Amino acid sequence: MTLPRATQSRFLKVLGGAPLDPPPLWMMRQAGRYLPEYRQVRAEAGGFLKLCYTPKFAAEVTLQPIRRFGFDAAIIFSDILVIPHALGVELAFEAGEGPRLSPVGDAAGVAALAPSLDRAKVEPVYDAISLARAALPRETALIGFCGAPWTVATYMVAGHGTDDQAPARLLALRDPMLFQSLIDRLVEASIAHLCAQIEAGADAVQIFDTWSGVLDPASFERWCVAPMTRIVEALAAHHPSVPVIAFPKGASLEALERMAQVGVAAIGLDWTADRRAARARLSDQVTLQGNLDPLRLIAGGAALEEEIGRIRSDFLGVRHIFNLGHGIRPETPVEHVEKLVAGVRRVL
Ligand code: CP3
Repeated sequence: MTLPRATQSRFLKVLGGAPLDPPPLWMMRQAGRYLPEYRQVRAEAGGFLKLCYTPKFAAEVTLQPIRRFGFDAAIIFSDILVIPHALGVELAFEAGEGPRLSPVGDAAGVAALAPSLDRAKVEPVYDAISLARAALPRETALIGFCGAPWTVATYMVAGHGTDDQAPARLLALRDPMLFQSLIDRLVEASIAHLCAQIEAGADAVQIFDTWSGVLDPASFERWCVAPMTRIVEALAAHHPSVPVIAFPKGASLEALERMAQVGVAAIGLDWTADRRAARARLSDQVTLQGNLDPLRLIAGGAALEEEIGRIRSDFLGVRHIFNLGHGIRPETPVEHVEKLVAGVRRVL
């Protein structure tokens, strides 16, 4: 069977090396609580994880922002914590509290992880991808994703989100061999999960490294760059035509430059990145994605309009995908997203 794939996709064109003006546009966390139709499906599903693991619901909320705003790419509705869950870690999302996991903090915990992803957990994700791909317009790309091993490990070691990722950083310092074995397990699981998403219909993949900014350069090299290199090399071997986007949030310009050298097609920038410096240092190697502050999208008005203009002009002439610098927040007015779409697509 030939899988449906995006064709004539402006998003894939830019990832493939051709700058476009206006730039293609999508938003991290574009399916979510700021949309009334999302809240309705979430209530019907009866919880966040049920939503993630029920293909027809996950596919439906993936399509909602495309119907409403016509973004150039959809991202499959799922979560980075599906990987630990499918390795046997207990996972729950308490309302208003974020994720809770059974912590993996010692040799027994790492040894107890399943040898491979539990198909019963991950299969619905792949089924949702196939459903979404079949329903999407051909010019709209579908993005698969996972968390970077480092970021996923920070949640596994602590058992919940933390402000400074101290539990994982300490474990990595006190017992680097053990931490390496955890990272190795996550590298293998991420490769399997991304390959299966591509085989189910994802046109590109993004790897979210939300907490890469808390590491010193040597640790960034060992826990972010080295695992990413292994993932990108494995994907290139199995699926050479599928672009990989890395989002090392909070990383310094030097760290971003290092990440641009591992074979990724694009680097996501958060809103603190100096765009002109990033352009000068990175744009001949990779596509740049980003980087509107999600708070500007809440504020609207001049705070939003002016920055859209600056982002477009700072990246004019180089490969750029317009996005936020992190996920959209639940309190964002839908009308501001409409303004964003109009501002990014305006002919200059
Ligand atoms: O971008 C998309 O639209 C695809 C869906 C997606 C979700 N999470 C859905 C989600 C993606 C790509 C993620 C990634 C993710 N998940 C990251 C990396 C990116 C980032 O935002 O930093 C991280 C660290 C997680 C882990 C996670 N999931 C946390 C910490 C939380 C709780 C915080 C929150 O925003 O509520 C989640 C829950 C989550 N994942 C929600 C959504 C839409 C909210 C759950 C709900 O509907 O109640």
